[in-house]
Amino acid sequence: MGKNYVFGDVMIGKEEIQKRVSELGKEISRDYKDDSIVAICVLKGAVIFISDLIREINVDTKIDFMAVSSYGATTQSTGVVRILKDLDSDIEGENVLIVEDIIDTGLTLKYLKEYLLARKPKSLKICTLLDKPERRTADVKADYVGFTIENKFIVGYGLDFDERYRNLPYISYLEEE
Ligand code: IMP
Ligand code: MG
Repeated sequence: MGKNYVFGDVMIGKEEIQKRVSELGKEISRDYKDDSIVAICVLKGAVIFISDLIREINVDTKIDFMAVSSYGATTQSTGVVRILKDLDSDIEGENVLIVEDIIDTGLTLKYLKEYLLARKPKSLKICTLLDKPERRTADVKADYVGFTIENKFIVGYGLDFDERYRNLPYISYLEEE
């Protein structure tokens, strides 16, 4: 790429993430009271978030995983969505909750949503840790949003740059040098 990236400050700290994830879990538990959820983790970015989130949910919850193509070693979206791994379970008649790390252009989620709706779930909602509304090109909205953020390239707490930094316990960002 020929570009160098440097770390910005901590954007959202560990405690702040924990507090917000707990709030989201409570809200989701209230909304699905006496019902059940199939939470779908969009690999790999949402893996940390969903792990914390489902432990804050106190209704009957199953999880399943999907993998779709991502950006690779660049910070630009190609707009191409490919299913790399499909669900293991049948979601017909289930309350599906897609759990995402971030909504950027929205292209991935718009595609996923239509793809999953074709399987006739009872309901389908979207929960995203981060939302970058400024970058939206596809018409898609999340039902649960952890944090609405400005247009920066985020790393940490599951989010990567070229597969690295997912293990950071806080949310930071990269800037061009
Ligand atoms: P979208 O289709 O543009 O909404 O974004 C698709 C995927 O790109 C997200 O689920 C993330 O995995 C990845 N992505 C988007 N923005 C960022 C970012 O700022 N940091 C890391 N990954 C990102
Ligand atoms: Mg993702």
